[in-house]
Amino acid sequence: MSMKAMQSLAVAIAGQPENAAYKERFIETIAPMRFRFYLPDLAMFIQHCLETPGINHAPLVRPWFSMLKAHPRFRKVFRLARRKDYASFRAAFEKLRDPDIFNPYFLSGLGVLLVPDRSLERFLIFLRRYCLEQFEAGAGSDKFADLLEPLARYCFRTEYVFAFGDEEAARIAVLRREVEKNRAGGEADIFMLGCYEPLHTLDNAAAVADRLRKLGYAGLAAEQISDFLVERELRHEIPALTPIDSGVSTAVQAQYEAFPYPRWSSLASSLSLDALEAFLPGGAIDSLKKDGAKFLIAGCGTGLQALEYALAFPKAEVLAVDLSRASLSYGLRNAKERGIGNLRFAQADIMRLGGLEDRFDFILCTGVLHHMADPEAGWAVLEGLLSSGGLMRIALYSEYARQFIVRSCAVIQARGYGDSREEIRRFREDAPDLLKRSDYRRVTRSSDFYSMSECRDMLFHVQEHRHTIPEIEGMLERLGLRFIRFEMEPRVRARYHKAFPQDEAGTNLANWNRFEHKKPETFLQMYRFWCSKTMGTQ
Ligand SMILES: C[S@@+](CC[C@H](N)C(=O)[O-])C[C@H]1O[C@@H](n2cnc3c(N)ncnc32)[C@H](O)[C@@H]1O
Repeated sequence: MSMKAMQSLAVAIAGQPENAAYKERFIETIAPMRFRFYLPDLAMFIQHCLETPGINHAPLVRPWFSMLKAHPRFRKVFRLARRKDYASFRAAFEKLRDPDIFNPYFLSGLGVLLVPDRSLERFLIFLRRYCLEQFEAGAGSDKFADLLEPLARYCFRTEYVFAFGDEEAARIAVLRREVEKNRAGGEADIFMLGCYEPLHTLDNAAAVADRLRKLGYAGLAAEQISDFLVERELRHEIPALTPIDSGVSTAVQAQYEAFPYPRWSSLASSLSLDALEAFLPGGAIDSLKKDGAKFLIAGCGTGLQALEYALAFPKAEVLAVDLSRASLSYGLRNAKERGIGNLRFAQADIMRLGGLEDRFDFILCTGVLHHMADPEAGWAVLEGLLSSGGLMRIALYSEYARQFIVRSCAVIQARGYGDSREEIRRFREDAPDLLKRSDYRRVTRSSDFYSMSECRDMLFHVQEHRHTIPEIEGMLERLGLRFIRFEMEPRVRARYHKAFPQDEAGTNLANWNRFEHKKPETFLQMYRFWCSKTMGTQ
């Protein structure tokens, strides 16, 4: 779409600001764009979308950030992210006449986005520390309130992955005691604390949430306190279908109890039935649309896909299982908030699900099997639960695409980093000096690096297997499953078809293997594919 067409969309939004469809179209259109200049009119619409609740803001991250960096006033303060240390940042910051840290465009993105960028992270780490010092100096905490509220939301979204030193930790401990004794002054104290640790850990969390709501900060109160308190109650409502008692399952469960994955807040409108219909072979989707079709989401994590499928297939009955109660209650809370009635959550170990009587028309298992002791054995359990003619959507790690992660994990192990929050923070700070330059660049290009649970998942997992296409082909054959298609970006598929024009359907796994050898990062987003159980197989 041209800039002109884009501007007409912006004009349409201005004419009908309550029309969410215009905003979603605008977001979809602008999402892949980067800007080298600050364009005030367009920035105003980006900001307007960011300030609209209930829509998926995440696709705005790159256009928002590229334009922020070009902002004529903000870029002067943002430049200070390059300072070699905090002391030098502070000295330079204090020399600026009017640092543009209350810039509304900056604050609008800070409140709702998570930016995979090390320079922004460094800037925010410095700024947070500066604000904390000003508190101590009695420089008027309320002065920073407008910045600290969105900053607290940002830090919460990273799950507090930003590093901090002993001095800051000591200051925060004092502030925490003050807030708990209800002696802290204005709301800025609560925001400041929320920049370093989640507010639900406070002794008086419920009272703090009430106070925040009364002051008009319902979003922060929900994210940092009430959502968590609700999930804590919901944990007891979730039935257990199987015990969890094998070594690897117990270790994996412990990881995801402490770090539920992934944390999400808005349902991306990524599951389009039209796209799925076009993607799957003729009529395959019909069996999923029928009344009472049975879906199993195996290893559902925090339930994002479970909710998406339950909403897209309202006649289906969806069962979502996982090892982690913390993850399941996150999904259940979201399902309840949205009034989704065709979705059940249960705790179960996939390895033990073989005794289930139900048979499923569709089984989704992405990013799970490779975290099991024996992925093929886990997949075989799921195959046994798939009805004849049923469909499966699987995602597995690629050996070739993850080599930079394998090398980074080897460094982490050799240097003896543990997997606690403190150790993950410490490694992230040390990483530029420890990792090969090109590996560091790749690791920090991944959005997973920028939140605690995703960083743990990427670099500190207790159990990880990786696969190759010939291995997957072997497993499919032994399990009696038929490969349907890989999911991938259209431009990558186009490249494959250029290289192998005779494989029109794109189903020749030997060719895909050759293709991957030439372009080892093809499956960085995992091997994501669909397969089916041929009719008559039981
Ligand atoms: C990386 S997360 C993926 C979550 C989700 N499928 C997704 O794609 O976002 C892996 C999830 O698999 C779950 N998991 C791993 N092994 C499992 C098992 N044996 N049985 C059930 N769930 C398992 C973990 O608890 C975790 O929530």
